[in-house]
Amino acid sequence: MKLASRMERLGTETAFSVLAKAKALEAEGRGIIHLEIGEPDFDTPAHVIEAGCRALRDGHTHYTPTAGIPELREAIADDVARSRGIDVGPEQVVVTPGGKPIMFFTILALIDEGDEVLLPNPAFPIYESMVNFVGGRPVFVPLRQENGFRFDPGEFAAGLSERTRLVILNSPANPTGGALTAEDIAGLAGILRERPDVYVLSDEIYSRLLYTGDFASISSEEGFGPEARTIILDGFSKTYAMTGWRLGYGVMPEPLAEEVAKLQVNSNSCTSAATQYAGIAALRGPQDGVDNMLAEFLARRDLIVAGLGELSGVDCITPQGAFYAFPRITGTGYSADELADLLLDEAGVACLSGTAFGRHGEGHLRLSYANSRENIGLALERMGDILSRVAR
Ligand SMILES: Cc1ncc(COP(=O)(O)O)c(C=O)c1O
Repeated sequence: MKLASRMERLGTETAFSVLAKAKALEAEGRGIIHLEIGEPDFDTPAHVIEAGCRALRDGHTHYTPTAGIPELREAIADDVARSRGIDVGPEQVVVTPGGKPIMFFTILALIDEGDEVLLPNPAFPIYESMVNFVGGRPVFVPLRQENGFRFDPGEFAAGLSERTRLVILNSPANPTGGALTAEDIAGLAGILRERPDVYVLSDEIYSRLLYTGDFASISSEEGFGPEARTIILDGFSKTYAMTGWRLGYGVMPEPLAEEVAKLQVNSNSCTSAATQYAGIAALRGPQDGVDNMLAEFLARRDLIVAGLGELSGVDCITPQGAFYAFPRITGTGYSADELADLLLDEAGVACLSGTAFGRHGEGHLRLSYANSRENIGLALERMGDILSRVAR
């Protein structure tokens, strides 16, 4: 089949292919423990489900305004303004089916052929995929375990060039669980102040899943608010365990919001109406579901980090946020791809090779601890068994 040549530049998200392989093994009768997919295993809070059902019963079964229903855009503006200590108006908010379209739409709207985009590596693979797709050039800033998977400011500054148009930040981060401190953010803002022509896409989808300290957003820095040059990407998938509802948003300069809405009208028209009503209930209603989920993730984090530390050839630093551990596995003698395959095929533990997130992910695995403590314990046991049998 002859496809447009741009399709050769489009990447993918390995988590979905590993999930498919793991499901195929399950269909053959194998017991698989799923540590590959990045979604909370909790139910959406009951009051949010009820709001979505009520919206359907009340007849909210039609198209909505492209950028989202006004009540939701207002609720998002209020929430983002409060949590980041900034001014936000509803006209700066675009509601999308999940947070992912904000990556696609902002990169499409801002990046011309040959423009450079500075981004972390390892990182969520869709950033690189989208930049390549539109003909931009990704420039990677390595994240290393020694540095808590935070940027080295010198390397960050060195990555900027005359052609840099956009910088992508993601904290707390997928796949490393690393988080940028307030000092890190201030340092990056200091570097970027020299470059007022550069936009920042700040992927804050895990902002509520931070275990220690306060969340720091570059949008809170003087001159970096969403009215100026930061596009905040956030959403409901992780915070409210709503991955299947598809609800996310971007907060950005108003002229860009208009263009992003235009891209949405050219693709999916709008976000599902009932889902948007559920989103209002999530933001305006009780937050104890989020707090309970975070407390459980914290217990699981400590369990998995302690267990990984006992495995020979493996060392794992403590993730600061999200629900991923990113252990270094170089001491096992296996490459990350080899070990991820071995664990799935021989031990029935599905996880991702660090290389699924870029070349600086070599030597690491990503384990999502969005699974029960019991299953995490079992996975660690199975990993211990296999590593003691096949040690190189
Ligand atoms: C860093 C990061 N950003 C964005 C997303 C997209 O989330 P959504 O499901 O809301 O599209 C994910 C999902 O895994 C993610 O890990």
